[in-house]
Amino acid sequence: MTTAPRKIRKIVFPVAGLGTRFLPATKVIPKEMLTVVDKPVIQYAVEEAIEAGIEHFVFVTGRGKGAIEDHFDMAFELESTLKARGKTASFEMLEGSRPPAGAASFVRQQEPLGLGHAVWCAREIIGAEPFALSLPDMLIQSKPGCMAQMIETYNARGGNVVAVEEVPHEHVNRYGVCALGETFNERTHAITGMVEKPKIEDAPSNLIISGRYILQPEIFAHLEKQKPGAGGEIQLTDSMISLLGEQNFSAYKFDGTTYDCGDKVGYLSANVAYALDRPDLAPAFRPILDRLTKSSHP
Ligand code: G1P
Repeated sequence: MTTAPRKIRKIVFPVAGLGTRFLPATKVIPKEMLTVVDKPVIQYAVEEAIEAGIEHFVFVTGRGKGAIEDHFDMAFELESTLKARGKTASFEMLEGSRPPAGAASFVRQQEPLGLGHAVWCAREIIGAEPFALSLPDMLIQSKPGCMAQMIETYNARGGNVVAVEEVPHEHVNRYGVCALGETFNERTHAITGMVEKPKIEDAPSNLIISGRYILQPEIFAHLEKQKPGAGGEIQLTDSMISLLGEQNFSAYKFDGTTYDCGDKVGYLSANVAYALDRPDLAPAFRPILDRLTKSSHP
């Protein structure tokens, strides 16, 4: 008889990146606090995790990222004022969109040594249990959310699960890329290999790692001794390749649309897509967008 996989209780958000691609906007404001419509990018990822039943939220931050910590705290003056003025909807919206007391931890990466190093910085808080990992720059619009879909896949298969999606072949060198083996169902396949930022001609497929993972705690032992890889950084993908020799990895082709908010065009697209999805904004926004797209030059 097989035992059910252990529950995923904790999630790691690496949020220490400098955001140099968005200067001057990110000189003072962390890039994760840039808004898509009226919500910071990081909040979409946190709400996706809350929806998936995650109980503890670990932010791997760095210097100058204090606004993220404040954002997920209670804003006592603001909230009591909203309550006193009877602005119940705004009050409830703030109350419902932060982790409960004691459910968020913050640890500093100290040095920008790469994603693998950022994840390793969370090891003491995660301990010896499987955990979720979410890269908030990759904003995924889907119902149910991508993390809920990932956990359902993990509950069925156990092991490690990596969200993947197809991109045009000429973009594969920007990402981690997977090679797939056995098909479990139309969305879920065994991973047989991975490579971080391959040359276009060397990529095993056009299926990229999309920034959502379920990982077993044994990843930390591999990260501990991981040598720098692509870009001179300690790469999570390289440690996943080592762990692939010992444990199963499933690739999950999630149902949803990704906006890479680490990229200006991706970020702008996210704002348009999320605004068009809002019943309170779309009727006023759509005609303006139509006019602008008709009159604009390429
Ligand atoms: C990271 C991962 C990469 C993944 C990408 C998704 O790269 O290392 O495997 O495909 O996120 O955004 P980064 O964007 O940090 O260079």
